[in-house]
Amino acid sequence: MGPLVVANWKMNGSEQLLQAVVQQVEGLIGPTGIKVVLALPAPYLSLTKGFDDTQIEWAGQNVHWLKSGAYTGEVSASMLLELGAGWSLVGHSERRQYCAETDEMVLEKTKACLALGLRPIVCVGENLQERQAGKALEVVCRQLLGVLKGVPRDLAPLIVVAYEPVWAIGTGEEASPEIAQEVHAALKRAARKEIDTVALRVLYGGSVNADNAAVLMSMPDVDGVLVGGASLDALGFRRLCEQVAGSV
Ligand code: 13P
Repeated sequence: MGPLVVANWKMNGSEQLLQAVVQQVEGLIGPTGIKVVLALPAPYLSLTKGFDDTQIEWAGQNVHWLKSGAYTGEVSASMLLELGAGWSLVGHSERRQYCAETDEMVLEKTKACLALGLRPIVCVGENLQERQAGKALEVVCRQLLGVLKGVPRDLAPLIVVAYEPVWAIGTGEEASPEIAQEVHAALKRAARKEIDTVALRVLYGGSVNADNAAVLMSMPDVDGVLVGGASLDALGFRRLCEQVAGSV
């Protein structure tokens, strides 16, 4: 599989932006072999049916672990599938921080996705304090193994992991390529130890832009990028995708 570019719009965007991004990016996918996934606010997912023949894929930004019920504001895995999403972010650090999502909830959400064939993009990452204390690898491996130990083994290959150091998100200070490489390699080692058949794909996220994407992608264990702010400008995002495509 070619490199994966996932755009996380967070609580941003508009119908107009969706049209502009699709227009800029869809022509790149076939010729370059990159895969582009847009993680949209749930209401915009309902608009994606209008882009029937595009190769762009769609993702939710969050998913509940239950099938249905009295959970105001939540979205289930089957709803995401019904709207055409093939993926969902799970355990983004903003959800862990602002919505008190725990490792246990992240596991349940991942299981709910896998049960229906929705591919989870499980986000892991240490905060600045944890990095300064030398605990980065311990934290991210704990977050990852909390998921891998709890999911059915045969479905684990559907999981993609995104390493997003909290200190690099929205700060303009991306992790160095060496840091990304070190953490990605550690995550892959931990995954192989847990499930020896699993070849984990790991994306890097945190202040990725068109200027740093290629150098991050040049690291052997960086399999793609998860992009926040830089995915909100259609032309800039196209340039970023071109950089990723050119790096392989
Ligand atoms: P930024 O690219 O804005 O730093 O956000 C990263 C992120 O959180 C993507 O999920």
